[in-house]
Amino acid sequence: MTDEQRNEKWNSNLSFLLAMIGSAVGLGNIWRFPYVAYTNGGGAFLIPYILSILFLGIPLLFIEYGSGYKFRSGISKIAHKINSKYEYLGWFIQASPFLILTYYVVVVAWDLLYVPLSFVKGWGDNPEVFFNTVLLEGTTDPSGIFHIAIYVLIALLIVWFIVWYISHKNLNDGVGKANRILTPLLFLMMIIIVGFAVTLPGASLGIATLFTPDWNAVLNPNIWVAAFGQILFSLSIGMTITLAYASYLPDETNIPRSALTVAIANSSFEVFTATGVFSILGFMSTSNNIPIGELVSQGTGLAFVAFPQIFNVMGTLGYIIGPLFFLCLLFAGITSNISIIEPLALSIQDKFIISRSRAVTMICSVAFVISLIFATSFGGTLLGVFDTFVNQFGLLLNVVIQTVLIAGIYGLEKLLPGINKNATFLKLGKKWIILCTYIIPVISFILWIQAVLTNVIFVDNVTMIIELLLLAIMFIVPYLITRHKATRDDF
Ligand code: ALA
Repeated sequence: MTDEQRNEKWNSNLSFLLAMIGSAVGLGNIWRFPYVAYTNGGGAFLIPYILSILFLGIPLLFIEYGSGYKFRSGISKIAHKINSKYEYLGWFIQASPFLILTYYVVVVAWDLLYVPLSFVKGWGDNPEVFFNTVLLEGTTDPSGIFHIAIYVLIALLIVWFIVWYISHKNLNDGVGKANRILTPLLFLMMIIIVGFAVTLPGASLGIATLFTPDWNAVLNPNIWVAAFGQILFSLSIGMTITLAYASYLPDETNIPRSALTVAIANSSFEVFTATGVFSILGFMSTSNNIPIGELVSQGTGLAFVAFPQIFNVMGTLGYIIGPLFFLCLLFAGITSNISIIEPLALSIQDKFIISRSRAVTMICSVAFVISLIFATSFGGTLLGVFDTFVNQFGLLLNVVIQTVLIAGIYGLEKLLPGINKNATFLKLGKKWIILCTYIIPVISFILWIQAVLTNVIFVDNVTMIIELLLLAIMFIVPYLITRHKATRDDF
């Protein structure tokens, strides 16, 4: 494979924007945001949320855009270029998205099972029992790891094939084309769902519940942590996806405009979707006389238990909204899934003489084998532990490392000419540099300590063993890759 082929470029700005939006809009927007917003002050959550977008999310997006655009490579090569002794950090940063890949694909597989089921409400009268017992064959006993949940396994194989097939092709024929089709369809279907949802009886109660502010909540620090966490997850920050996608940008891109478009599209979709989700919850609450608070459960429960329950009481309309909802989750999940493969695929191609197709096949093969543990009866429990650990420990730490490395050590002023080159209405300068060099790393570090203390250290024994195993993988595998000699001269 020649360097020309390796240095692929998006064939249009629209392809890039749709891929970026496809990456950002994912499971996190549809099932995570409504729950997080509701449990963190409802309408009042929007204040820390908007401030987090403006002062943390967008500035961090600019760093990823700027460094991908300037270096035209993944984070490992960038770290190596800054100083070869930092290469390890580049590979370390990619351990978290790799681990996310191994379980994100499983949630998409669960959803794939619900697409055909939703046409016939195949979950029956008790969606909770159906999800936990019939599909997941779930248990909290670790010995359940030796029992395969056959439906999940079949769906997992299909999703892995789809994800591999899209990603292994060249950039524009694979990732570009998939996003050009799936992202607009996702938006269209969500508009139809929300359109229906807001006309349901009880919808206004749901919307009022979501947006009525609990002003005392703004003073609670946990709400700010939740808002920042949501923005990181939702904009895929800390995973270096934006950095990888931006490394394929044509020279003439207006970076500030592009970053703002992605952030606005992602958040508008998120709030719009939450309006629909709460309208549907309001409908259920009114028709069955159940307080909304009892219906808003964790993301998985909301999507695969509460929603099927609601589609059951909706009558014929449930046969329309149900399939649309699960198709939306599927499209959102697949476009995010393929984006999580990209940074590692790029970094492997940066260091070794290997084609994109082989790099993607390698990553998918290893991640597939690991993901099999989630297709067992203990899989649901394991998935919860992986998710909490990687998000609370890994991604926040990644933000700290990335800002210290690129802003603190390398220097953001070196990224400014590239970022501002084609900028029109917004040009970055000193304020952005100060924010990213001094304020964001400190805030992220404090949030990381708080997250680790609350969610990672004080856990039961089984969780602790899993966390220690994950820690070992996160620290040792990057070390082994760093030690491996590069086969490309320009690494
Ligand atoms: N940003 C992706 C999501 O929201 C990871 O699911």
